[in-house]
Amino acid sequence: DASDISKGTYPYYMLKEIDEQPNVLRRLVSEYMNEDGSFNFDPKLIEALREADKLYIVAAGTSYHAGLVGKPIIEEVAKIPVEVELASEFGYHMPLLSKKPFFIYLTQSGETADSRQVLVKTNALGYPSLTITNVEASTLSREADYTILLHAGPEIAVASTKAYTAQITIEAMLAKALAVVNNVPGAEDFDLKYQLSLAANGMQTIVDAKADLEQLAHEFFANTRNAFYIGRGIDYWASLEASLKLKEVSYIQAEGFAAGELKHGTISLIENGTPVAAIITDKETASHTRGNVQEVEARGAKTLKIVSEDLAKPGDQIVVPTLDTVLSPLVSIVPTQLLAYYATLQRGYNVDQPRNLAKSVTVE
Ligand code: G6P
Repeated sequence: DASDISKGTYPYYMLKEIDEQPNVLRRLVSEYMNEDGSFNFDPKLIEALREADKLYIVAAGTSYHAGLVGKPIIEEVAKIPVEVELASEFGYHMPLLSKKPFFIYLTQSGETADSRQVLVKTNALGYPSLTITNVEASTLSREADYTILLHAGPEIAVASTKAYTAQITIEAMLAKALAVVNNVPGAEDFDLKYQLSLAANGMQTIVDAKADLEQLAHEFFANTRNAFYIGRGIDYWASLEASLKLKEVSYIQAEGFAAGELKHGTISLIENGTPVAAIITDKETASHTRGNVQEVEARGAKTLKIVSEDLAKPGDQIVVPTLDTVLSPLVSIVPTQLLAYYATLQRGYNVDQPRNLAKSVTVE
């Protein structure tokens, strides 16, 4: 909805864009998923993806974090190996590529110079490419072989929110589309339409309860200089984005860590009152992550748990709906966006325009 660039009744774009996420998800379903279960993607794109032996996702910032989530989705659902690369690194330190690589550029703006320099190189090497972007006719869209649009509406706040969840949604749709054409066993069990309706409703429930998160942000992040998000697997990837969101707007030095890695170094940073938020949506590792939470509590940390409904226990402060585990960042990220938003307002900063940052960075 390109006309919708006013804040309406919202004080900041970031809050408006967080709130728009359920509708963006529903719009993507109606744009790309047909009633008969087929997808409205260019058949030539699907063919080109099928021919690849490995997919390389290249991106920067929040889009990179969406790519990190895309890897387990595509590998688990479509059984195609995926590498996720930081654009600013990959162009200059290109690893040994597979025989038939396919490049996926994730970029909200379609203008990021770091990503474009990689596209220029992979074009010169003759490799096929897809740009997943929010901006029609943007540079990376024009220069790649294929484009899929995010249909998220203009994202104005510098900190990306709705583009992240839209990118994950498109990655999941591509995964399912590829699983179906490749007859991957169990592909039918991955009921993406149903999962996305759960996700949209779950996002709505979370944004409707934003007053609780405002209070929690105040209790949890007030007067702290630093903070940690921890998780394992998919929750680790969500933790990286949760901590980026918090640090880029509130200036709290926030880091995301693999929960099991804490004891190998990071735990030395835990002091009395250090905030540590854990994301727990994977039943395989939930008890281990809870163990890590106890370890930091024993060293004085103040802890917050963001847990999927199926794994929730009394005392968990934030409960999010249960999705297929690889899709859980679609809902687990939303409370962390709101916590970042409120922690920033509570510190008196302009949440839409953090210092030193630009919405789209067109220099390398
Ligand atoms: C800038 C923005 C980030 C964004 C990154 C990648 O650094 O401040 O919010 O995630 O660029 O942008 P892109 O448009 O390529 O997704």
